[in-house]
Amino acid sequence: MSKVKILYSTCGGNTKLVCEKVAEVLRHGAVGAAGGEPGAKKMGASEASAYGIEGKAGASVAGAKHDVELFDVKVADSPEKIGEADVYVFASPTYGQGELEMYFERFLQKAAEWHLEGKKCVVIALGDVKYHRDYLFEAANILEEFLKGKKAELIYRPLKVAMTPIPRLNNVIKNWAEEFAKVL
Ligand SMILES: Cc1cc2nc3c(=O)[nH]c(=O)nc-3n(C[C@H](O)[C@H](O)[C@H](O)COP(=O)(O)O)c2cc1C
Repeated sequence: MSKVKILYSTCGGNTKLVCEKVAEVLRHGAVGAAGGEPGAKKMGASEASAYGIEGKAGASVAGAKHDVELFDVKVADSPEKIGEADVYVFASPTYGQGELEMYFERFLQKAAEWHLEGKKCVVIALGDVKYHRDYLFEAANILEEFLKGKKAELIYRPLKVAMTPIPRLNNVIKNWAEEFAKVL
């Protein structure tokens, strides 16, 4: 089990929704069909209901369960308030013309001395082509550059979510989180 800390900022709530979904998958494991992988735990009726798959008790939950905490960097506005973790997830929407959300930008300024060398990290970025096509998901590049500069270990590809995440929560986002969980 890894201790995972998800740092996010959000203006309209989209990034928070994405991070909450990722946290749910990392905490509870991958939800599969009835049968599932060998050794996968079978869900009871109430657990199936919690996953929104009522009537499918017997579906499987596979994968390690991780200790996951979410931090809004507007509130937890310095590395000291985040604390130690095995894995950090950095999640920001793109604003302005290819910039980080304001509170994430401020957080990174305070994190200039944060020691992340060798630390396992991954990035989540939101964006929307209707704003600045040339800077689509630019937050992902900014966050990865920051982490590379700190010699952090980027352990998985960034999750990039366009427009409202709601139709993608239980497919693209869930699938990404399940694959990410395998490299933890
Ligand atoms: C004023 C403004 C500027 C934006 N600029 C960009 C941009 O440069 N690139 C991009 O990919 N998305 C851009 N977006 C889209 C946001 O990243 C997207 O709507 C995101 O889902 C917002 O996330 P949030 O609800 O967590 O704040 C912009 C949105 C607004 C409102």
